Amino acid sequence: MKNTIVVGAQWGDEGKGKLVDVLAEQSDLVVRFNGGGNAGHTVMHAGETYKFHYMPSGMLHGKVCILGTGVVINPKDLLEEIKSFTDAGHKPKLWISARAHVIFPHHQLIDAKEGGKIGTTGRGIGPTYSQKASRINLRILDIIADNAQERIKNALKDVKDILIYENIFTEKAYLEYCASISVEYAEYGKTFKPFVTDTEDLVRIAGNSDEVVLFEGAQGTLLDLNYGTYPFVTSSSTLAAAAFVGGGAIPGVPIRILGITKAYTTRVGEGPFPTELDGEAATNLREAGHEYGATTGRPRRVGHLDLFALRYAIRISGIQELAMTKIDTLALVNGIKVCTAYKIDGKEIDYFPADAPTLELVEAVYTDVPPITDLTKKEWSGLKHGSKADLPESIRSYIKFIEDFVEIPITILSHGPERNETIVF
Ligand code: IMP
Repeated sequence: MKNTIVVGAQWGDEGKGKLVDVLAEQSDLVVRFNGGGNAGHTVMHAGETYKFHYMPSGMLHGKVCILGTGVVINPKDLLEEIKSFTDAGHKPKLWISARAHVIFPHHQLIDAKEGGKIGTTGRGIGPTYSQKASRINLRILDIIADNAQERIKNALKDVKDILIYENIFTEKAYLEYCASISVEYAEYGKTFKPFVTDTEDLVRIAGNSDEVVLFEGAQGTLLDLNYGTYPFVTSSSTLAAAAFVGGGAIPGVPIRILGITKAYTTRVGEGPFPTELDGEAATNLREAGHEYGATTGRPRRVGHLDLFALRYAIRISGIQELAMTKIDTLALVNGIKVCTAYKIDGKEIDYFPADAPTLELVEAVYTDVPPITDLTKKEWSGLKHGSKADLPESIRSYIKFIEDFVEIPITILSHGPERNETIVF
């Protein structure tokens, strides 16, 4: 297998966790490069369900896993995740970038106050990245330093005005916070120290050898800070390009860019969603696909597959091939359509609107699709890898229709949460 970047091609929750778990088997190194605990990757293996927020899904294969420089880390949550993984009998082989930024409780408090209008996950992601950009945040290398407590107290001075002005803390509560958090986070630093390194070097060395590196994106292309449905986006770049900036992928080294799309569309949080379903149709699809957020448990908004948005995501992220997940779910619902164009004021447009209020106004133009054949697990498992010829006509034509529209191939089809419920063409 070639070095691969895996990214979501929709608004997140496309099933990247499962696909990374599948692909990790043939990889040596798995690298996360963006986001933080806002991601929720569900992986099922040997009857157990694992929910990762930080750890790359390659962990289950015992692969070397990296949290790269572009990731923001809540040390407390990461430690809990490591502990539950270790308690389940696994041995994490984890490296953390010294340059990754740290999420503190005050970031979560600011997020809780301000994130409502976007519908954030409340994990403090936006405030951490914004203080990173303002150059007033701390990195992992600060909390592992010998003078970590001092560094933390100094950094908190820089955000004091913000915290008091935003009514996050009173003066007294702020002082208590500084005293307790500097001790607590310096302790996390001591625990993390053995896992911290210049992860870019590990990636570079692997990239220059025969080792296979798998880059695991979080969230989805349409949640990208620059190219997504701003302001209803996350605070990091979710494009394949972010694997270079935040994960240490080296420009020029050949790389495969695999986008993940569901056979339909989902979104959590606020923001435009041109193919959104409501009423009974939405409930049926949500229940059929168990569409509830892995991080927040929120019911996901659901809708038809939006090929117009998917083609935009493919173009801006440079996606070369697609893995399609949850085709089995689509077989359980009636009235399947795919959106093939957007109209504004009755006229078709040839661009994906950058302006969220304009995107709210678009009318999705649909093409009806024949019902997807509902195969039993046994029938699915009898299908051959390597060729689409074996697939039932309804699935073959659904795939072909999508491939013709987006002009790249679907090379993987996922028909259930388990590793073996995956067909590679
Ligand atoms: P934040 O990343 O918590 O700041 O949330 C910003 C927006 O991105 C919200 O609409 C979230 O619901 C959405 N979001 C963040 N992470 C994920 C994810 O992993 N899957 C789906 N949506 C996400």
